[in-house]
Amino acid sequence: MKIKNICCIGAGYVGGPTMAVIAQKCPEINVTVVDINKERIAAWNDDDVENIPIYEPGLSAVVLEARGRNLFFSTDVDEAIDKADMIFISVNTPTKTYGIGKGMAADLKFIELCARQIAKVAKNDKIVVEKSTLPVRTAEALKNILENTGNGVNYQILSNPEFLAEGTAVDDLMNPDRVLIGGDLDSPKGKEAVRSLVDIYAHWIPKERILTTNVWSSELSKLTANAFLAQRVSSINAMSELCEKTGADVNEVSKAVGMDTRIGSKFLKSSVGFGGSCFQKDILNLVYISKSFGLHQVADYWEQVIIMNDYQKKRFAYKIVQTLFNTVSGKKIAILGWAFKKDTNDTRESAAIYVADYLLNEQAEIVIYDPKVKKEQIYADLDYLNTRSSEENRTKVKVVNTPYEATKEAHAVALLTEWDEFKDLNWQMIYDKMLKPAFLFDGRRLLKRKTKEDIGFEFYAIGN
Ligand code: NAD
Ligand code: UDX
Repeated sequence: MKIKNICCIGAGYVGGPTMAVIAQKCPEINVTVVDINKERIAAWNDDDVENIPIYEPGLSAVVLEARGRNLFFSTDVDEAIDKADMIFISVNTPTKTYGIGKGMAADLKFIELCARQIAKVAKNDKIVVEKSTLPVRTAEALKNILENTGNGVNYQILSNPEFLAEGTAVDDLMNPDRVLIGGDLDSPKGKEAVRSLVDIYAHWIPKERILTTNVWSSELSKLTANAFLAQRVSSINAMSELCEKTGADVNEVSKAVGMDTRIGSKFLKSSVGFGGSCFQKDILNLVYISKSFGLHQVADYWEQVIIMNDYQKKRFAYKIVQTLFNTVSGKKIAILGWAFKKDTNDTRESAAIYVADYLLNEQAEIVIYDPKVKKEQIYADLDYLNTRSSEENRTKVKVVNTPYEATKEAHAVALLTEWDEFKDLNWQMIYDKMLKPAFLFDGRRLLKRKTKEDIGFEFYAIGN
């Protein structure tokens, strides 16, 4: 079946970039991305393409090329569902904050709402594609909802998890290691549905990199991939503390270990802790699923990745307190970087939020600079923790527009996101305007120790 109209429900970090690239590469297919969030859709449609709601290198150019031609952003969810042959569900699947599985299970209410809306609106056969990251066997529930409407519509459900990483989303989409498509390969209709999605990706991705599996393998592979990636970061972060105690340097250890081709060099960069909307959420979900099958050893094994990550964030904050003569009360601490990694404005689960929170508990005064994150977002992140009132957050935390303003008269600087621009700051000037001794804590191993110590900084870096 040749797909002519695609609808994607959810215009977020995944739906927006993914559909923009599909539209650019497949000019004969109309792609409509819909969302209930009116402001988000308005931003995607903004005349100035630099104002699209997601910052990703290269994304605005792709959107500019396809928008209005065969890429559309709309709030009319029903109309887009009605017209589409293929519907991607790309809504958020956050950790549950209530009820059974609170703090662990994935909250599937948004997914279910999409299924019910599709069931209500659809008049002709549809291929429904799970793009969101979902617990294994979710497709079964979707099928149940969709097929119990009695309106004679046939549905094929595919799983097509997304592996893009933020900050490199466009590159990852243009040139992915693999595309994974799970479907019912035992039935002719299922095979045909899989083939129609393969055909879309085959516009720009070599066929040997398009992998087809059964639905459950596809759903579970996504959780597994994120768990393995996060586990590598926690593993190297665990070694970082041992390095600090023994005089080994975690970067050297990481290089030596990563040169073993069986291990590989990627994802072995020690840091203040991984963040982002996926790793923690997906591992917690994996832990929950394992527990629900009674696999407690499996659950404990993966949970340790999160425990290590929480420890790394706390350890970094406590290192600051300890180094500043065991008190930061009333002291000004500059935080450089709030995003969970460079080249994104996304702050979900960013280590910076937790480091700031620990320091605020110690009565520090925090001044924050990030090149892409807006002030309101920073306050919203702190308010979300519910540790203190939002008035208190606004009194104790200032957000400024330059790194120089942030660091002026500070007792210490904590570098928490590896933005390239932090490498080339005028560190001499920063030092001159700080209180002495001037402490610099590098949570990303971005800066060179020697040059900073030559200036006069008291320098601490993760794992060194
Ligand atoms: P997001 O929060 O940025 O976007 C989701 C969007 O869906 C929101 O704009 C929301 O308003 C919209 N939405 C929710 N319910 C809706 C409904 N019923 N109708 C219409 N719109 C609705 O989330 P995201 O980061 O794009 O993640 C989406 C999914 O993709 C998640 O399952 C996530 O785990 C997965 N994923 C994310 C990434 C990533 O890097 N962010 C990577 C791979 C996979
Ligand atoms: C991740 C997966 O990489 C991606 O495949 C999936 O689709 C979504 O989740 P993302 O969270 O966007 O992507 O970014 P990623 O590059 O994986 O980084 C996650 C966190 O780990 C960041 O905070 C990053 O700074 C940290 N990290 C990553 C390290 O601390 N060290 C590393 O070596 C790699």
